[in-house]
Amino acid sequence: METFEMIQSRKAVRKYSGQITDEQLNNILLAANAGSVGLGKFDEYRLTAIQKPEILSQMTGIYDAPTVIVVSGKNNGLMDGNSAGTIVHNMELEAENQGLGANYNMASLGFIPDGVIPDGFKPLFALTLGQTDETFTPREISLKRIQTNIVK
Ligand SMILES: Cc1cc2nc3c(=O)[nH]c(=O)nc-3n(C[C@H](O)[C@H](O)[C@H](O)COP(=O)(O)O)c2cc1C
Repeated sequence: METFEMIQSRKAVRKYSGQITDEQLNNILLAANAGSVGLGKFDEYRLTAIQKPEILSQMTGIYDAPTVIVVSGKNNGLMDGNSAGTIVHNMELEAENQGLGANYNMASLGFIPDGVIPDGFKPLFALTLGQTDETFTPREISLKRIQTNIVK
């Protein structure tokens, strides 16, 4: 899909119809690694792809997603949250590129069982993922959705 069309088609998908393939997961993880982090300190972040039903069942607010990818960081300041945002957004767009349903997620961060996220890292942001029956076509998006001042 052409990039701008894809951006306009992006939407939060909260209904999933099945598990993603390992190849789809790899592409999404590659997109995550193509993201940016502040000061280029990639070692201060970790990705945890959770597909184990026993763990997912303990996480609320994930809409029964069969895959949740959590971005965690050594710190949880503004820089870290923003970096996690770029990583998750890259994954979200690649998910859409593959026709998968995905959504940004913070609601589950407090419900990740102990031992899932690497020691010394704090969950910052997550993506819920799965197959979907939804289709992606450009949405009518108002230029006023976010109030803007142009200063010139
Ligand atoms: C930082 C952030 C956190 C979010 N957390 C959640 C969440 O926990 N659960 C959820 O269902 N959606 C979550 N969302 C998705 C937004 O609610 C959704 O993108 C927004 O309502 C706009 O809808 P759209 O993505 O379809 O344009 C989050 C989005 C962002 C950017």
